[in-house]
Amino acid sequence: MKKVTIQPARHLTGGVELPGDKSISHRYAMLAGLAEGTSEIRHFSAAADCHSTLSCMKALGAEITFESDTVRVTGRGARGLKGSWRALDAGNSGTTMRLLAGILAGQSFSSKLTGDASLQKRPMSRVISPLREMGANIRGREDNFAPLEIRGAPLHAIDYAMPMASAQVKSAVLLAGLFAQGVTIVAEPATTRDHTELALEQFGAEIERHGRTIKVHGLAGANGGAKLVPQSLDVPGDLSSAVFFVAAASLFPDSNILVHNVGLNPTRTAILDLFASMGAAIQILNLQSRDGETVGDLSVKGSALKGGVIGGEQIPLLIDELPMLAALGPFTEEGIEIRDAAELRVKESDRIAALAENLQRMGACVEERQDGLKIEGRRAGKLRGAEIEPRGDHRIAMAFAVAGLAAQGNTVIRDADCAGVSFPTFFSELNRLAER
Ligand code: S3P
Repeated sequence: MKKVTIQPARHLTGGVELPGDKSISHRYAMLAGLAEGTSEIRHFSAAADCHSTLSCMKALGAEITFESDTVRVTGRGARGLKGSWRALDAGNSGTTMRLLAGILAGQSFSSKLTGDASLQKRPMSRVISPLREMGANIRGREDNFAPLEIRGAPLHAIDYAMPMASAQVKSAVLLAGLFAQGVTIVAEPATTRDHTELALEQFGAEIERHGRTIKVHGLAGANGGAKLVPQSLDVPGDLSSAVFFVAAASLFPDSNILVHNVGLNPTRTAILDLFASMGAAIQILNLQSRDGETVGDLSVKGSALKGGVIGGEQIPLLIDELPMLAALGPFTEEGIEIRDAAELRVKESDRIAALAENLQRMGACVEERQDGLKIEGRRAGKLRGAEIEPRGDHRIAMAFAVAGLAAQGNTVIRDADCAGVSFPTFFSELNRLAER
């Protein structure tokens, strides 16, 4: 596995383009595969995770062609998928497995869904349980882990009060709702990303939203059955990937970068509000709406970050950005404390343990807690370069590459290829912007 060495930088300058948003790419690929006809999805994510979704949709009968980052997906309608004799492989992608489980539950065939060693350790009962309430027939190892065996069954609508704030769980139920008899209702306890709702609207599903309650009408409705309509769509750049550059630029007073074409959906931008509240110098430019999503450019200059406490309802809105925030902790005035984030322990790795271990390797003062971390700020001393073990987790690898830019001495990221799960060109782009 490839090691990458990060040398300290003086500042970051220049412009950067990001891969297409991962969450949106998954949803467009799945819904395009359920539509009748050919959808064109431009700036489709380069992430390995989204390519796992595409290969699953292909195995289920969608026709898929590529031309650089444009993907054309031809579906045969919501009832047009066919069973795959081979297990569907979601790779490292929780989104692929949980959302597809919703779609597969209502088919007329059986499927087996599997993933890599990390994904096989992640909890699936959170989707198995509501899908069973809808009539699904799903079996998993210890009733919680992949591989999942899903025997398609007739589904009925449910009124589901989600016990946890998870966009993946919400999406699994809404997608199953397309194949259910009646109107499926999902209520979330806290706001999570709403890309599924927006994408369902875009592809022509009947969906209503009132605050945190979402209703989706089954496609086999009263008037003879509704269809999903193929679309021509642009995927905005991934804000969760942009955050590594925003963080890196913020670390150095002389930085000045422009991040082009970033998705700024309000259910994703809590990280920008948090950065602003900590004193970051971020400006949003060219804000516009495209295909139901919000897009803009980010201008970022260097600034001293204050740090602070992150918890409660902020957590689901910042969940993917917490590794970067934690790795910034030692560079902030007051340090960073993360609470109420036990969910981090069941991500691509146990992110609380991975952050604590690697922060300690760099000499940070860190307290690991069951549901978070407390990281001392600047006064506890400067970080030193170290060898980082990302535990196969893309966001851990990228977060520590950024920390390495402002540490004393070189930082080595082991198994750096794992960044490809969301951002295959991350290291070369970071290196291009870092002035030394
Ligand atoms: C995602 C939802 C979040 C997030 C993941 C992508 C999505 O997961 O962490 O990276 O695309 O719906 P949870 O739903 O488990 O919080």
